[in-house]
Amino acid sequence: MNMPVDQQAIERDYQIKQQDYLELYQSSLEENDVFWLEKAKTLEWMKAPTQGFEGGFEPGNVNIKWFADGVLNVSTNCIDRHLVQRASDTAIIWEGDSADEDKHISFQELHDEVCKLANALKKLGVEKGDRIAIYMPMIPEAAYAMLACARIGAVHSVIFGGFSPNAIADRVNDCQAKVVITADAGRRGTKSVPLKANVDAALSNNACPSITHVLVFNAVGLDVPMGSVDVDAATILAECDSHCEPEPMAAEDPLFILYTSGSTGKPKGVLHTTGGYLVYAAATHKAVFDYQPGEIYWCAADVGWITGHTYIVYGPLANGATTVMFEGVPTYPDERRIGQIVDKHNINILYTAPTAIRALMAKGEFAGEGSSRESLRLLGSVGEPINPEAWHWYHRVIGNSRCPIVDTWWQTETGGMMITPLPGATEMKPGSATNPFFGIEPELVDNEGKALEGATEGNLIIKRSWPGQARTLWGDHERFEQTYFSTYPGNYFTGDGARRDEDGHYWITGRVDDVLNVSGHRLGTAEIESALVSHPAIAEAAVVGYPHDIKGQGIYVYVIPVAGTEVTDELSKEVVSWVRKELSPIASPDLMQWTPGLPKTRSGKIMRRILRKIAADDFASLGDTSTLADPGIVDTLIENRMNRG
Ligand code: WT7
Repeated sequence: MNMPVDQQAIERDYQIKQQDYLELYQSSLEENDVFWLEKAKTLEWMKAPTQGFEGGFEPGNVNIKWFADGVLNVSTNCIDRHLVQRASDTAIIWEGDSADEDKHISFQELHDEVCKLANALKKLGVEKGDRIAIYMPMIPEAAYAMLACARIGAVHSVIFGGFSPNAIADRVNDCQAKVVITADAGRRGTKSVPLKANVDAALSNNACPSITHVLVFNAVGLDVPMGSVDVDAATILAECDSHCEPEPMAAEDPLFILYTSGSTGKPKGVLHTTGGYLVYAAATHKAVFDYQPGEIYWCAADVGWITGHTYIVYGPLANGATTVMFEGVPTYPDERRIGQIVDKHNINILYTAPTAIRALMAKGEFAGEGSSRESLRLLGSVGEPINPEAWHWYHRVIGNSRCPIVDTWWQTETGGMMITPLPGATEMKPGSATNPFFGIEPELVDNEGKALEGATEGNLIIKRSWPGQARTLWGDHERFEQTYFSTYPGNYFTGDGARRDEDGHYWITGRVDDVLNVSGHRLGTAEIESALVSHPAIAEAAVVGYPHDIKGQGIYVYVIPVAGTEVTDELSKEVVSWVRKELSPIASPDLMQWTPGLPKTRSGKIMRRILRKIAADDFASLGDTSTLADPGIVDTLIENRMNRG
């Protein structure tokens, strides 16, 4: 399975050399506090921390603190401290949806825009600790909004622009946000996303009573109706000063909430705090990309996800990097776009997701036409396991067979990269995330929690804390403990499975819980099921993932119609658009099977294992079905399975 890879990397004096990794890794574990306090020195503190980690993962008392006596402000670390020498250097290169639009924003401009927006928020009554929802397209103002919150100590909660009004309302209400920052509309390829209209729908009928104002940017020149809570951003910003004193924040003050899907219930408000998060974001960005001053770096994610938070905004800007922000999609106007953007801005480092790579790969060599991509020296992958075929294509076509690839495994909850190669220090293995980052102590355990040794496969846990770790779930610490620390008490459970090879390298095999990874987007089966059963024609639903060539996982939906319903193609189509509208287009069912029943145990539990096998066209190994209340249902399900040709 391991195809040979040309290991020749571009000649470069890498910060961390092969012989250094093991030694540094060992000492990062042995003297963990010393290691991280040293990394903390790369930031600018108003009061330097003297404490490293405090707390523990003990059941009933999960408590995580880093650098607790330190005081700092994230926005001054990302902006002001670079002004001294580099005020006119480019902080953000914005590439528009349309290939003829771009913008360079210097650190000075970034400072002024962020301060103005921070002052505008203050004018709207926002105070330290208030929550602000950000529902924006991929325009620089999205980054300004995040940094403006950080400047005044408000806690942002970015909501991905692809989410529907219901999803917005849920998130706003869970954290009781005071203000929503949005725009008239967003563009993605040929599509326009009606952001302001979605916010209006979310707030209609007083559904979000905590909201006092909606700040509306004009991104595409739409003439949107403005109601009583709406504030035109351009108007208020014109009255705001470009100086704003940064709020001194304790290291453990909240920086942001980001909602992510779990295997049960509503999305979870993952909370990240100030000091530890920024230290971790900066340290991983610098080491994993071997970032050197002056280099142009592009993370092609959306700020609506953790990747955008840590590796478009906070990590790179803390390191004074030039970070590229792309409004559009990699296939618009066609598959050559990524290469063209790389050439246009002389990009050195490209970080993207396997699903994007596979979408380009579907057109063969075409993606490499019309660009040389000679400026590239490093490629990164994130979000899901990268299949070796996609890895090789990425390496050869995008990277001209000369750039190392870092396959970075991490999660919303981990804040930053956890298991990843370091270019120049780690041998490349297509499909393997390889080694733990400094200070990270992974272990593979069996279902009983017994540690597995050597080359093996098991459930991936992390044994000790790291600065970027989520501290809690907003308003629900009990769920935090329950979700992450109760399965293997005393350890953080990732929800992922992994294999470890003879060299000790890790290969992430995917989720072992009921969380799906569709095109790198994380979705809970429970969320999709609850959207489905809210449709009047659906009595019951079960959702599983199945292997999908481009998306990684596709969404396979089993639905039981309400008695007396006539199942038609129109109804199926209507159900698909229902889910898109209720939840999000990213949750759109790929395959839908109407069924009179589901395989359940006598106690009423759905046996998803069987549903997953049927969805994957794998009927040979269904396992024991004798404990089912109605074993006959399995034959019916197989008979009516969706034929995928
Ligand atoms: C889940 C986390 C990491 C930021 C974006 C996604 C999967 C992530 C990899 C990788 C294999 C990966 C895991 C993880 N995942 N990166 N390099 N190789 N799997 O963050 O939405 O919180 O999803 O994405 O299953 O648990 P997220």
